[in-house]
Amino acid sequence: MMQAHFKIFYRQYKEKINKKLDFLIPNKSVYPGLIHEAMRYSLFAGGKRLRPVLCLAAYNIIKDDYDKALCVACSLECIHTYSLIHDDLPCMDDDDYRRGMPTCHKKFGEAIAVLAGDALLTAAFKAACDFEDISEIKQIIEELSDCAGSAGLVGGQVMDILSENKKIDISALEYIHEHKTGKLILSSVRLGAICAGAEKKELEAFSGYAKQLGLAFQISDDLLDVIGNAEEMGKNIGQDEKLNKATYPLLYGVDKTKKILDSTVDKACAYLDCFRDKGWFLKKLARFVAERNN
Ligand code: IPE
Ligand code: IPE
Ligand code: MG
Ligand code: MG
Ligand code: MG
Repeated sequence: MMQAHFKIFYRQYKEKINKKLDFLIPNKSVYPGLIHEAMRYSLFAGGKRLRPVLCLAAYNIIKDDYDKALCVACSLECIHTYSLIHDDLPCMDDDDYRRGMPTCHKKFGEAIAVLAGDALLTAAFKAACDFEDISEIKQIIEELSDCAGSAGLVGGQVMDILSENKKIDISALEYIHEHKTGKLILSSVRLGAICAGAEKKELEAFSGYAKQLGLAFQISDDLLDVIGNAEEMGKNIGQDEKLNKATYPLLYGVDKTKKILDSTVDKACAYLDCFRDKGWFLKKLARFVAERNN
């Protein structure tokens, strides 16, 4: 019953987000058409919309509607999509496919893919300005810049690239997880709460939840790389070059990693107890993130 409920809510959030993104990003009939086509190609390629859903759901714990947070939610998805387009480039992870489709540079060439990423990142900041109150805009833009820049996602990507094929310790691994994926997830939840006018104590609870969720997300992403690859290609851990990257499974092995993942989700959910029944969706979402298969 609760499971069905979760899916319905998730789908509703997604529909709202997709509609707004469609409104915010020009289509290929707007000159120069190719860049808009490339931006939309990756933006509407079937992403889970996890970050904007987190933003709206956090907002929803404080307020009954969520319209006010919709633009910021879309900003987060634009930043996420830009980061994936650049992450897949030959100079980064050199991936040909994402979500079962050719990556942006495979479809449009490297130059247009770089520019599509740039334009999505820029569009994110415009979308985030859709508030009456200037001090609110300032707070939101600061949060977005911090989580996306060298103190956040970009910093994590830098250390991820530098650690490739190197032996790294747990603290380096934690830095990478916390920054390359964790910061955007943390800000997704925090921005929803900030838009809803959450109090300091509430914001702390949201942040506690989101930090653990970000960690759970990256652990499950790494597990998917290992289990997915092992099952798909009949390979064992360590045989694929991708698996030379800094991951929990590489440091702890698959079984211990699964246990760490489980307890990370428990820790995340505990932070939501202060919201009583209203925390149910974000709790379900944490389980969903850990148990997802893509
Ligand atoms: C995948 O993120 C890549 C990382 C940031 C680690 P998601 O799994 O949220 O990607 P989509 O958007 O749903 O495909
Ligand atoms: C991507 O991490 C993180 C960002 C784009 C910020 P990964 O390189 O591990 O993600 P996948 O495996 O390509 O989705
Ligand atoms: Mg990468
Ligand atoms: Mg990658
Ligand atoms: Mg990965």
